[in-house]
Amino acid sequence: MMGLRPIIHKSCYLPKVKILHTISTAMVDAIKSEFPFFTANPNLVYLDSAATALKPQRVIDALALYNAHESVNVHRGVYRLSQRATDTVESVRQKTAAFLSTEKTATAVFTRGTTEGINLLAHVLTHPNSRLADFFPAFAHIRPPAILMSQSEHHANIVPWQIAARERGYQLLYIPVDSDGKFAVPENFLETIAAAYSLRIIALGLESNVTGIIHDLMPYREWAAKHGAVFIVDAAQAVVHVPERVRALKPDFSVFSAHKLFGATGVGAVVGAKNVLDACTVYQGGGGMINTVHEATSTYLEAPTKFEAGTQAIGEIYALGKALDFALEHAQTLRTHEGDLRAYADAKLSKTGIRIFGLSAYERSPIYSFEIQGVHAHDTGTLLDEQDICVRAGHHCCQLLMRALGVSATARASFSLYNTRDDVDRLTQGIEYVKKIFRK
Ligand code: ALA
Repeated sequence: MMGLRPIIHKSCYLPKVKILHTISTAMVDAIKSEFPFFTANPNLVYLDSAATALKPQRVIDALALYNAHESVNVHRGVYRLSQRATDTVESVRQKTAAFLSTEKTATAVFTRGTTEGINLLAHVLTHPNSRLADFFPAFAHIRPPAILMSQSEHHANIVPWQIAARERGYQLLYIPVDSDGKFAVPENFLETIAAAYSLRIIALGLESNVTGIIHDLMPYREWAAKHGAVFIVDAAQAVVHVPERVRALKPDFSVFSAHKLFGATGVGAVVGAKNVLDACTVYQGGGGMINTVHEATSTYLEAPTKFEAGTQAIGEIYALGKALDFALEHAQTLRTHEGDLRAYADAKLSKTGIRIFGLSAYERSPIYSFEIQGVHAHDTGTLLDEQDICVRAGHHCCQLLMRALGVSATARASFSLYNTRDDVDRLTQGIEYVKKIFRK
């Protein structure tokens, strides 16, 4: 049974607010009942929401509604149904931009997800045809250009920059992390970088998918603003746990995938200022993004359309609109409940004697990467699965971070709105079972 207890939320760079709400078992049960996954899998403890969140009925219905009743293309038809679908897609675009940005100039480019969003940004921001110096003076400096990330990034926020850097002569720089996954910033780090390079792009994940650590990115945001660099927030995990932090950082660009926010797979967005996007070169060419086409050249539409070649994932965009509604409707409940689960899980899991990564961080979401000493993460995952507990095991697309943590893999349990204290208890018992099997 869920108890009632006060939760205190801490923030590094928002006004300190004490939230003294609690969430009742009945409320969590009501939320759970919106997820048909639990009807199909009544005994399963789903602890892999960092990989993909479950989908509420309204999201599933929106996808089905499009495919069953409104399955037409957008921006192309003169008939009413096509116009209605176009209106729906454009209203979701506005809702998406407003979810991650408070700027009036913000728009959303629909992508296939975080990975495509970062590939898009890596391509256009480093491309010589993009006219960025008017917005970001660092692009006019003649020192060797550089991109800053951290060792805690997932591969989606590393590999696209590596590809772009190799082609365009950028230096790749990383904020080091310690053996618990926190930023371990050397003294005068940014000043030393700035003396040697023109630091043009800072691209950082706000929340680690491995440890749940919410990094304090404000110093990097402020530095980018002062020195004319682009500041990008990879919000792949933060979009569900702390979207208000993304907004508070006022990034030049943020990226996310809908499926981690209770939406469908195959869609996500880049959110950024329209005039900056207009100054960027195009990404993919094709129908839907052009103005005129001649034999040798073409002209393009304005942003965001110029980045959306081909037919978009229309049904998935419909579903994203409903996922955003769901996230907004339950925002306060989600924060409070996740805070409660984290406090409970911190206490329970710490007693098992396992190594939990990131516990020393100031701020975290309820994501637990752990190691049972002497047991491979895959064995842990398999034995937990035998007990109907779904966790992820592996490097979590974060090999740089794994090296910093000193492991090749971890088991990871990630909690969400529909999880309960009972799920924490089941995980704790599951870990004890793994320890018993391996006599640890
Ligand atoms: N990036 C996703 C995860 O952390 C897939 O599991």
